[in-house]
Amino acid sequence: MPNARRPLALAALASSLLLAGCDLGLPAGRTPHREGNRLDMGDQRKLKPQRKDLFLARPTGLMEPQPGSVAAGEALYPYAQNEADKAGAELVNPLQPTPAVLARGKFVYESFCIACHGAKGAGDGKVTALFPKPPSLMTQKVRDWPDGQLVHRPMRGQNSMPSHARQIDQNEAWAAVLWIREMQKGEPVAPPPAAPAAATASVPPAPQAAPPAGGKS
Ligand code: HEC
Repeated sequence: MPNARRPLALAALASSLLLAGCDLGLPAGRTPHREGNRLDMGDQRKLKPQRKDLFLARPTGLMEPQPGSVAAGEALYPYAQNEADKAGAELVNPLQPTPAVLARGKFVYESFCIACHGAKGAGDGKVTALFPKPPSLMTQKVRDWPDGQLVHRPMRGQNSMPSHARQIDQNEAWAAVLWIREMQKGEPVAPPPAAPAAATASVPPAPQAAPPAGGKS
């Protein structure tokens, strides 16, 4: 239907005449539409993947939050890496083991912990072929820990286990703790690891994790 295209062609002609009529004083070859419209989003400074960071002069396009900034809904975790006992004594799990929370905890555990700690917490995850084998989470020691001691490990890391504070938030860690408790109900008590220090002695400790409100991952 050639006739149907006519109005379109006319509109295009009219708009190009209009644009040609506006003298924006631009050098030849510049696009008047872009140069004339300062709000055009294509014209802003932006990050492109794999390119140098325009804002922070970093080698990658990744941006870290400003120091001291807190994401919406993020709760600060105030304990340093060596304060597991304090966290255990003071923190109370804000979650109840409802089916929804347990499902969430299972999801978090199976997304972030299972690779090392294994499907049932025995410390036999797939990457332990290459990575130091963690002790079982089914030992009497871990069963006796208060929830705060358990949540401290993902929030701050422990020796070769890195902090997960950038990957999961505190509520997700609490839910994972409840899932570990649930697994403990169904699994036999594991014997204490034979030589806990020997297994990780050759591995340098993970760097002290930055608090969630800024710094490095
Ligand atoms: C990259 C492997 C890895 C991942 C992922 C990982 N861990 Fe660990 N975890 C370890 C290792 C290794 C240890 C033992 C560290 C040491 O030598 O003290 C450990 C220790 C622990 C301990 C203390 C156990 C004890 O008896 O001292 C807890 C609790 C724990 N992890 C929970 C978690 C939870 C919860 C997650 C998921 C959010 C998680 N870990 C993810 C490797 C991992």
